[in-house]
Amino acid sequence: MAATGEGIVEHPSGQVCFVPGAWTGERGRFRVTGHRGRAALGALVALEWPSPDRVAPPCPHHGHDDTHCGGCPWQFVAYGAQLAAKEARLRRALARFGVEAAQAPIWAAPETLGYRNRARLRSDGERIGFLAAGSNRLAPIEDCPVLTARNRETLAALRERLPEPAWRPRRRGPLTVLPIDDEHGPEAVVPGAPQAFRQGNSAQNARMREWLARSIGDYAGRATVELFAGSGNFTEILAAGGCSPVLAVDSAGNALATLEGRALPAATTQALDLFDDTATARLAEALASAELLVLDPPRDGLRQLPVFLQYAPRLSAVRYISCDVATFARDLGVLLDAGFTLEAVQPLDQFPHTPHLELLATLSRPECRVRG
Ligand SMILES: C[S@@+](CC[C@H](N)C(=O)[O-])C[C@H]1O[C@@H](n2cnc3c(N)ncnc32)[C@H](O)[C@@H]1O
Repeated sequence: MAATGEGIVEHPSGQVCFVPGAWTGERGRFRVTGHRGRAALGALVALEWPSPDRVAPPCPHHGHDDTHCGGCPWQFVAYGAQLAAKEARLRRALARFGVEAAQAPIWAAPETLGYRNRARLRSDGERIGFLAAGSNRLAPIEDCPVLTARNRETLAALRERLPEPAWRPRRRGPLTVLPIDDEHGPEAVVPGAPQAFRQGNSAQNARMREWLARSIGDYAGRATVELFAGSGNFTEILAAGGCSPVLAVDSAGNALATLEGRALPAATTQALDLFDDTATARLAEALASAELLVLDPPRDGLRQLPVFLQYAPRLSAVRYISCDVATFARDLGVLLDAGFTLEAVQPLDQFPHTPHLELLATLSRPECRVRG
């Protein structure tokens, strides 16, 4: 299975084809429909040998063509098999470094439906939906069982406003985005407005916060740098655990304003583009004394990590929260080269029915381990 959710089929010629809606171990026929870089894209034509893990999808809008919603590409597979595929992907990535023993069993989501606390709906003014699989086309929906109850009510209220001329895209323009969040009702929906980041599954976010609280036990009173802090979801835990001082860095000014509103005495913020080559120099003072580094980057990971580590000689622990196995593996290689040991990786499922996988990694550098 590809990280993007499709089945990977290899032709004897070596040509690789990504086939949406195909699962591990299946046999069938597919048609080549296009290309993704040097790989081909395929559409399933007939299944000759279906997987025993196939189930009836819980949502009528599920599908893999450009008329169906692309939000939950794995709804046709039993939840246990989805989790096993996610664990297998992580195991393969860790095996490259011989550290697969550090992998813990995945934390399944407590609810496989009704979990999604925010979403970006799309509208053409006549209909509301999500983007269709692999396209910019609108796949209209009547309901979405993956949304939390409050978000489903918001969706229903927005649908009652249709047709809504204000949501018609400009000529040849993209569909209008309707951002929804279960902290608010339909009255707070502002078409096209940017949404500050929020972890999308509240129950699993609570587990991530508990994990962080447990994993920073030794670091009370120790200088901490937190990269990609957003609005302070994890900064709050670091401050409550006694880490001090904490420097929380993010590029989103509105998120940092929310963080500052939490009034955490030990924490200060710095607005910075962490992918800019000058970022390390601007954080030099904090990095020089930091003993704990916490980072929760977007999918790109932190390509500049080698430079950050050069600036941080006293670092003895890293807590890396990742939403992308491939960039995590790249950054893990950098940390291992810098003398860190991978103590544990906890995979966690935030988004059932999607290939998304969240990782919580604990690393330490024994020669710098905090004493006393
Ligand atoms: C996965 S979110 C984590 C946010 C926070 N830790 C949380 O749990 O809510 C990634 C964060 O990275 C920030 N970000 C994205 N690109 C960035 C960049 N180039 N420099 C600094 N921060 C960036 C986003 O604003 C977002 O807050």
